Amino acid sequence: MQLKYLLFAIVSAVSALPSENFPIWLPPNPTDRRSPCPMLNTLANHGFLPRNGVNVSLDDLVNGLSESINLAADATITPGEIALTTSTTGNASTFNLDDLDKHHILEHDASLSRNDFYFGDDHTFNSTIWDHTATYFTGPTISFTEAAAARSNRIARAAAVNPQFNMTATEHTNSYFESALYMGVFGNLTTGNAVTNWVEILFRQERLPYLEGWRKSTEEITFDDLVYLVDQLTAAT
Ligand code: HEM
Repeated sequence: MQLKYLLFAIVSAVSALPSENFPIWLPPNPTDRRSPCPMLNTLANHGFLPRNGVNVSLDDLVNGLSESINLAADATITPGEIALTTSTTGNASTFNLDDLDKHHILEHDASLSRNDFYFGDDHTFNSTIWDHTATYFTGPTISFTEAAAARSNRIARAAAVNPQFNMTATEHTNSYFESALYMGVFGNLTTGNAVTNWVEILFRQERLPYLEGWRKSTEEITFDDLVYLVDQLTAAT
């Protein structure tokens, strides 16, 4: 290879590496705790939350979600406080990520990428379930209509096979918020249109797609922004 091409190759490779001190992604060790939430797992994999997934506090959540994805404290505190009610750490102000597996606290039936509690594992990424969800995401970006269809169809499929299927009204609302979160973090706070490949990377690899060009929102993502996105998804359902 000529020197100028070699130099070009080196410069291109280096510029693709995390910069601005973006925390490196590492897969979890076998003893690290992980949750049914693809984003909390992702943030632990980058070190925005404790990498071992143990003794996570509300401050860890507020700071970690703000630094990594610019989520406002007003959007983090409510689910964070509910998360603390699952705590098995012996300290009511911390929880372990796998405490969130508890059914009917935040974890619910008809997840986009996990099986139902009834089938024995409600927290591990399930590629068969996600593959089906992803069939609704046919273009480079995900519209509100597609996100809403993926969600409704997953609910219908889960209800058809789980004899103990049960989603409360609150769980329906929470599942709308979960779709709103991926639309807002990987798309636009007004138009949605999450980048399909970035959403795929979140779910499949539990990694922030920094190398693929994603950057955290320059605007803080507030609870009101999420309510707006939920309204769009509800209208598209
Ligand atoms: C305090 C903050 C958070 C807590 C305590 C939390 C907790 C949870 C839990 C327990 C679930 C499982 C629900 C289920 O059974 O499907 C879940 C799902 C989910 N969370 Fe989070 N989460 C938080 C923040 C976020 C953020 C910031 C995002 C941003 C993208 C996010 C994205 C999702 C998505 C997309 C799902 C659905 C997963 C699926 O259906 O397979 N979460 N979260």
